[in-house]
Amino acid sequence: MSKILVTGGAGFIGSHLVKHLVNAGNEVVVLDNLLRGNKIEREVFEKIQFVKEDVRNFEIVKKLSQQCDYIYHFAAVLGVDVVADNPVETMDTEVIGMKNVVDAALLNNVGKVIYASTSGIYGHSAIEKSVTENIQVDPRTSYAMAKRYNEIYLKAAYEEKGLNSISVRFFNVYGTAQDNRMVIPRFFEQCLAGEPITVFGNGRQTRDFTYIDDTIKACLLLADKVKGCEIFNVANENEFSIYELAKLMKEITHSSSEIVLVDAPKKRYDYEVERRFGSSQKLFEAVGFKPSTHLKEGLGHILNTTYANRS
Ligand SMILES: NC(=O)c1ccc[n+]([C@@H]2O[C@H](COP(=O)([O-])OP(=O)(O)OC[C@H]3O[C@@H](n4cnc5c(N)ncnc54)[C@H](O)[C@@H]3O)[C@@H](O)[C@H]2O)c1
Repeated sequence: MSKILVTGGAGFIGSHLVKHLVNAGNEVVVLDNLLRGNKIEREVFEKIQFVKEDVRNFEIVKKLSQQCDYIYHFAAVLGVDVVADNPVETMDTEVIGMKNVVDAALLNNVGKVIYASTSGIYGHSAIEKSVTENIQVDPRTSYAMAKRYNEIYLKAAYEEKGLNSISVRFFNVYGTAQDNRMVIPRFFEQCLAGEPITVFGNGRQTRDFTYIDDTIKACLLLADKVKGCEIFNVANENEFSIYELAKLMKEITHSSSEIVLVDAPKKRYDYEVERRFGSSQKLFEAVGFKPSTHLKEGLGHILNTTYANRS
C-alpha cells in the first residue's frame, strides 16, 4: 500500500485514477479547487482525504504530500475555449502548481511525480506522421507552452536535485464523467437531443482518441515500473477525423441528427492542428502495455452507462 497525493483528483481523469488507487488499497489524498465540480463517486469519496484548495498554495501542497510515495499532478485549467479565454490563469496554474509540487516532493522525499502533460505540445509538428516523444515539439498555446515548460522543469529537478518523475503526454482522453467542454460529450448531447452535430471547419482534422481505462492503466504501470525522469506518449495509435467521429457517434446512438460543418470560432485557430496521432511504442517497450480500446467500443461503453436512460 502506498500513500498518494492526486492534484486535480476531482476532475475527469483524476477521478478515474483515484477510484483505481483506492480500489487497489492505497491511501489517497486529493487536492482540487473544484473548478469543474467533483467527479469522484460517492463510495470512493468516503474513502479518501479530500481537500478543497488551490495547487498554487504551497503550504497546503507541502502538508498534504507528507509521507507520500507518489504525487500525481493532474490539476490544470483546460479545454480549448476555457484556455483561450483564460491564458494567464492557465499558465499560472501550471507553472506555480508545478513549482509547489516539485518543492514539496523534494522536501518530503516523495518517490516520484507523475505529471499530466499533453499531446498538444506537438502542435503543427504532428502533421505528417504518428508522433514519437523525440520529435521537435511545437507548442502554440498558453496551455501547451506551460506543459512543455513543466516537462523541462521536471528534467531540471531530476538533474539538479534527483527528483524522479514521469511526464505523460495524453492524447484526447475520453470516457465517462467527462464534461461538455470536450468534443465527445458535446456530440453525445447533440446526437441524443436530435440536434445538429456541429463539426468545426471541414471536419478532416484528425485526433487519436484514447480510452480512459487504458490511460489509467498506462499511468499506473509507468508509476510502478519506470525510474529516473522520462516522457511518454499515451496514445491509442488510431487516427479518426472529427467528421468520422461524428458519423460513428450518429450511428451508435441511432440519431436522426444531421452533421453540420460550421466555422471554428477565431480563438480556436491555434488549437486546430490538422493531424494529431501518436505512437505508444516507447510506452509498450517500457511497461509491456499500450492502449488498444477501439473508439467504437469505448463510445459504446459511455453510451451504455452515462446515457443509459436516454439512448
Ligand atoms: N482530457 C484530456 O484529453 C487531456 C489531454 C491532455 C492532457 N490532459 C491533462 O490531464 C489532466 C487532467 O485533465 P482532465 O481531462 O481530467 O481535466 P479536468 O478539468 O476534468 O480536471 C482538472 C482538475 O484540476 C482542477 N484544478 C484546476 N485548477 C486548479 C487549481 N488551481 N488548484 C487545484 N485544482 C485545480 C479542476 O477543478 C479539475 O478537477 C490535466 O493536467 C490536463 O491538462 C488531459
